[in-house]
Amino acid sequence: MSLRNRDLISILDLSRNEIEELFRKADQMNKFLQEKKTLNTLSGKIISLVFLEPSTRTMYSFQSATYRLGGKTLVFASKTTTSLAKGENIADTIRMMSAYSDLIVIRSPYDGTALYASMISSVPVINAGDGKHEHPTQALIDLYTIYKLKGRIDGLTIGVLGDLKYARTIASLLYGLSLFSPRKVYLISPGNLTLRESVRAKIDDLGLEYEEVRDIRQVIGELDILYVTRIQRERYPDPEEYERVKNAFKITEKLLENAKPGLKILHPLPKLDEIDKSIDNTDYAAYFYQASLGIPLRMALLASILG
Ligand code: CP
Repeated sequence: MSLRNRDLISILDLSRNEIEELFRKADQMNKFLQEKKTLNTLSGKIISLVFLEPSTRTMYSFQSATYRLGGKTLVFASKTTTSLAKGENIADTIRMMSAYSDLIVIRSPYDGTALYASMISSVPVINAGDGKHEHPTQALIDLYTIYKLKGRIDGLTIGVLGDLKYARTIASLLYGLSLFSPRKVYLISPGNLTLRESVRAKIDDLGLEYEEVRDIRQVIGELDILYVTRIQRERYPDPEEYERVKNAFKITEKLLENAKPGLKILHPLPKLDEIDKSIDNTDYAAYFYQASLGIPLRMALLASILG
């Protein structure tokens, strides 16, 4: 099915075929970028970037992807310089931005904002992260990175380590992995950072094969991919709880002495201290490459919805 004029609120809005088609398009975009070709796919189109929460990668890679396709952006990134500061509600804000542009990319600290926006907007809406709920374009980048690094997703052993409780990237990645056939997914959650019940219920329904372990050392020798997230400080209602868990794990060179050859480490970024900086320059580190794939992947997505 075509993605034309569709919203993207959850990674599960896409089928495996549609995701693989986006990978093929992203490969083409990458080729155009390397050849420095000018594309006019979004010529005359305006994309609204409504960011009610901080962002580096998502915001600027969407903006860059739009420019690379010949489009323009309206950046709505501050609660102090817009009429939100005067008390205007989000519904009226979305009405305005949908009148002023051809597509809205929205990030919000609240679960469900993107879906709500899509019900109000007259133009397509892309979820750029809503609270702890989902971050579907990040999951597309994560899956695309695995595909580029390993040539496949099926049959791989994938460890997911970090804040399984609050990281929206993990929820979307697990839903996305359920559309493929990994050999095994290990959910590695030190302390009490185990998966939220709502996410667990959904991956059970989706039939994802997974096993929960407490300590990365139990499985490091089996993993083809290790996906790490930071502890999501901004989602902790109790700052003391964050203080208790913030140093719950760290990826070090010593830990990686027992890694399977060819292991690649992914991270949606930003990262704090959960990965030792000495690993950034090793063959294990794939997270900066992963971030770079945000441009061709988001170009492919925008071109598919609006091109
Ligand atoms: N991965 C990601 O969402 O990064 P930003 O918060 O910088 O957009």
